[in-house]
Amino acid sequence: MDFESLRRDFPTMRTDSGVYLDSSCQSLRPDSVIAAITEYYEKYPVCGGRSVHHLANEVSIRVDETREKLCSFFDGEAPGDFVFTKNTTEAVNTVAGGFPLSKGDVVVTTDSEHNSNYVPWLNLRDSIGIGIRRSESGKDGVFDIESFKSQIDRSVKLVSVTQCSNVTGCTVPIREVAEIAHDHGAKILVDGSQAAPHIKVDMKAADIDYYALSLHKMLGPSGMGVLYGKQEELERLRPRLYGGGMVGLVTYDSVNFAPVPDRFEAGLQNYSGIFGTKAAVEYLEKVGMENIMRHDAELLSYMHELTSDIKGLRLVGPDDPSKRCSIMSFNIDGLGAHDVAMMLDSIDGIMVRSGMHCAHPFFVARETEGSVRASVYIYNNKNDIERFATALRKISEQFGA
Ligand code: ALA
Repeated sequence: MDFESLRRDFPTMRTDSGVYLDSSCQSLRPDSVIAAITEYYEKYPVCGGRSVHHLANEVSIRVDETREKLCSFFDGEAPGDFVFTKNTTEAVNTVAGGFPLSKGDVVVTTDSEHNSNYVPWLNLRDSIGIGIRRSESGKDGVFDIESFKSQIDRSVKLVSVTQCSNVTGCTVPIREVAEIAHDHGAKILVDGSQAAPHIKVDMKAADIDYYALSLHKMLGPSGMGVLYGKQEELERLRPRLYGGGMVGLVTYDSVNFAPVPDRFEAGLQNYSGIFGTKAAVEYLEKVGMENIMRHDAELLSYMHELTSDIKGLRLVGPDDPSKRCSIMSFNIDGLGAHDVAMMLDSIDGIMVRSGMHCAHPFFVARETEGSVRASVYIYNNKNDIERFATALRKISEQFGA
């Protein structure tokens, strides 16, 4: 795969807008995704699934095709297992709000979750009295399966874990975790927002009950996410949004819900986002997830090589870059994370994220105020990493402790 020519598919790269190392927040988009979004507005700017005129039919067909594409890409059982959402947060909340949990039932997470996979459970703890447990990772942030096992018993109804931490990049073996959850009668929900853009995910092979992901981290449009669920697992969720499009027939005093996935898609949908989703998945398919994994790993290893001797650099996460899926999270002694991020931007237009990365409990528990996070993706090259390392070295030498 020629990643250097692929880079030219991205307008942000062609216009030399700087060094983009913030893909864990949002990825850039290639021409084909932008064209698909535009195609919706230019050719078929109407509603799908309702009117029967020819423009509406075209939108309905594209919606179906997008679900089919997601199903083949993620190895689902059927296209209807893929629900469109705004983002991972909405997908996780769809499960949290709809899964049959009652007082005393337990949900198990890890200590490295995004707020999106804590706050919904805290809310249920405070509103209906569920219990929350978490596995503790090792000192370097690596998932500890023994700690996870120690939290599991028959009172656990749902295991909800990130597949890849947005802070450390450490991954969770979801297949093994799913097996343990199932052995104890629990279901598994995976926050795949950081993993799905970088790792090949096979829902059937991993035996996942629910999987949440964001298209805007995987070359797709902003505000597009997906909730995958096995059909029988989606069917047991109570919908959270009620209205048109999610019903069969409504009378003055009764309603029956539409089958899944429509049941979870009340109201008009983000059709341009759905068009763009199909184009994004097609693009990833063309590049190949194996190639993406290799490319990300090479760049992260190069980043490690060029930065590991920088004075005062402290990694948040394991030393070994192969354990940090596309992410390098760190601090520089004597400097705040936001200051480092702003200096990187002003020195050479290097864009990273800084702060707590919406994973507050992780930092609060470690009594740190956050980190700087550089994250790579398919359009980055070695020159980006060299520019980042040079600027970081300068910051450390001139301003570090
Ligand atoms: N959750 C996204 C991130 O980690 C926004 O940057």
